[in-house]
Amino acid sequence: MTDVAYRNHRHYISEGWSAEPKEMFKRLAEILGKEWLSKSRDVLDVGCATGELLGFLRRMVPGGRFVGVDVSEDLLEAGRRLLPEAEFVNASALDLPGPLAGGFDLVTAFGCMSIFDEVELERFWDQLLAAARPGGRVIVLSPLNEFGCDMVIRHRKRLNGKVGSWERGWNIFAVETIGDILAARGIQMSLQRFAITIDLAPRPDPVRTWTIATKDRDRQLTNGLKLLIDHYFIIATKP
Ligand SMILES: C[S@@+](CC[C@H](N)C(=O)[O-])C[C@H]1O[C@@H](n2cnc3c(N)ncnc32)[C@H](O)[C@@H]1O
Repeated sequence: MTDVAYRNHRHYISEGWSAEPKEMFKRLAEILGKEWLSKSRDVLDVGCATGELLGFLRRMVPGGRFVGVDVSEDLLEAGRRLLPEAEFVNASALDLPGPLAGGFDLVTAFGCMSIFDEVELERFWDQLLAAARPGGRVIVLSPLNEFGCDMVIRHRKRLNGKVGSWERGWNIFAVETIGDILAARGIQMSLQRFAITIDLAPRPDPVRTWTIATKDRDRQLTNGLKLLIDHYFIIATKP
């Protein structure tokens, strides 16, 4: 299996920003709190797509530097049009440009950790932590596994009779794996589960998530990989 890439990003351009702020953004604002939001803040969003999260936070705080990093130039171009007051940088989460180091009160990465394999995870966290100021927060939103299992997943779609290429983006790591990485860096992580509050229907792309009712939950996220997906905010404060 060669050339396994993350490819599921076209919809960020075709669908644009949501008319209403996403539920996960509103939850992030609650986690940050009114006091934090009342001051000018420097924010870095890694895997920023078209900058929707940056746009939301920019409206919440009185000022500061807003930087988005992504590897897709198409997404960054759209971000530059939608949020001209932010900077959009083409770089990998695994290799953030040196000048970003130590510069941010908040570093976010939503929906991005699952792209990386176990061998890349420590580097991913080291890069995010390096970008934060001492006392700054790193907040990652990602599915986690609560049963002590790490899953490294490859998937391939067969759409309209065409066999696609192998893709990544759905690795799900055990809570303990992330806890150990952060503990080794002297950081105790805090977790908050993000429970979706709206029903989502399946879409033509089977990798996009939708909700089903289960015995335990009214809304359980799943997708065509037949995963049960539970997102968590992983919150770490840089020492
Ligand atoms: C699932 S999307 C999440 C987008 C956005 N953060 C959100 O929550 O809506 C993952 C994003 O990570 C980006 N990405 C893929 N590989 C990356 C890498 N190595 N470094 C930084 N971003 C990457 C993709 O281009 C895509 O925009």
